[in-house]
Amino acid sequence: MSTQSVVQPKPVEREPSGKAFYAGRGVSETFNVSYGKGIFFWDTNGKRYLDGSSGAVAANLGHGNERIRDAMVEQANRISYVVRTAFTSESTDTLCKVISDLAGPGFDQTFLVSGGSEAVEAALKLARQYAVVTGQTKRSKILARMPGYHGATLGAAAVTGDPDRDEMFGPIMQVMPKVPAPLSYRVPEGFDVKSHADYCANALEQQILAEGEDTVLAFIMEPVGGIATGALVAPNSYYSNVRKICDRYGVLLIFDEVMCGAGRTGSFLAAHHWPDALPDLVVCAKGLSAGYTPLGAMIAPNRIVDKVVESGGFLHGHTYSGNPLSSAIGVAVLKEMLDRDLMGNAQRMGVVLRQKLNALKDRSTTIGDVRGMGLLNAVEIVENKATKAIFPGTKQASYRVSEIARELGLHLYARRAASGKFGEWFMAAPPLIITEPEIDLFMELLTETFRIFESENQ
Ligand SMILES: Cc1ncc(COP(=O)(O)O)c(C=O)c1O
Repeated sequence: MSTQSVVQPKPVEREPSGKAFYAGRGVSETFNVSYGKGIFFWDTNGKRYLDGSSGAVAANLGHGNERIRDAMVEQANRISYVVRTAFTSESTDTLCKVISDLAGPGFDQTFLVSGGSEAVEAALKLARQYAVVTGQTKRSKILARMPGYHGATLGAAAVTGDPDRDEMFGPIMQVMPKVPAPLSYRVPEGFDVKSHADYCANALEQQILAEGEDTVLAFIMEPVGGIATGALVAPNSYYSNVRKICDRYGVLLIFDEVMCGAGRTGSFLAAHHWPDALPDLVVCAKGLSAGYTPLGAMIAPNRIVDKVVESGGFLHGHTYSGNPLSSAIGVAVLKEMLDRDLMGNAQRMGVVLRQKLNALKDRSTTIGDVRGMGLLNAVEIVENKATKAIFPGTKQASYRVSEIARELGLHLYARRAASGKFGEWFMAAPPLIITEPEIDLFMELLTETFRIFESENQ
């Protein structure tokens, strides 16, 4: 493998400062990362990790991409920052054009921000401002799905479907109404996947009517799920039903493509898989900059943006929105993705990966489901495959799996969302540059991970 020729850096002798309190569960100075190349990165002890989840499903190009580094340096040599309300730059202008072109007709203008939560906030606010300037002032409710994830800021948290977060942060935000997500593995009794998806679409319509149709502003959903649902993909009819319902009541449809957008599912937008159900607004982040800089985008049609701009302008923005440095990195990332046909690779390698994960599932006693699209996949962990029962909370099974994997040199992004109410899983979402021999290595490490996990749980 080409990455084996990479010179690994020497272990670094350094005393931990103890000043960073945001490290995650089980993360310690032992896993202090020092260097990355391709689908691998190394810690300061010289240990190599295969990035099986692209960090938090962001590092779409893998690590240490020299073209991106060169673009960073070139832009930094010119200018890194200007305030967007007074100046624009060539890189910002180019990035907005490239994104809108890739998103396609109806996604005419792009508003840049610094991440997924900020992009979601921008979409919610643009929707509200559009409603107000077009005389629909009563429209203020944003419906969303349970479970679902839209970000950490309070506006995004208010539309996130997670009872634990509502309990903690509900008193400091306005929690928005939720409708059921069309889960495909734990389908309630009396339904199959398709009839349950029909039921969920109907639940959206009922909720709009119950809220008062002229009070509902928007419906936000992840077209291919992320960490909250474990890469949920609904039957095709769900998307067209949702689009028709939103049209029927004048409700804006917002697709949160923070995780599934920017090529990860095999097309630039996941929305492109359902062309008869395109959203009004779409948000992307993560893969847009592939982890090389904080970057997000809200993409909107002229018919919405123009009304808001004509009324005096969008009442929103952040200091770093559209900064030239992040924009130049975004342009380089998207060029690299196009030049190397990484969307095609995501589609092809996704098929290979799911086939191998399903083969592992058939041999495993604790893998209940494998699902996803392109290179956005999840592996659901259960205690009992026949009943689909999950492990007791004390086991923290998905975190234990990722801990074993990390010991073996494989990074897996895992979640026991909503205290396991909807199941637990990890994302099998390597960088879009992955090759078939590298998928074999991923599978070797994963097979050994489950051998150890299952021997602990016999
Ligand atoms: C679907 C979705 N929306 C929003 C977010 C929030 O993005 P960020 O963490 O960049 O703020 C995430 C992050 O994982 C996500 O997966």
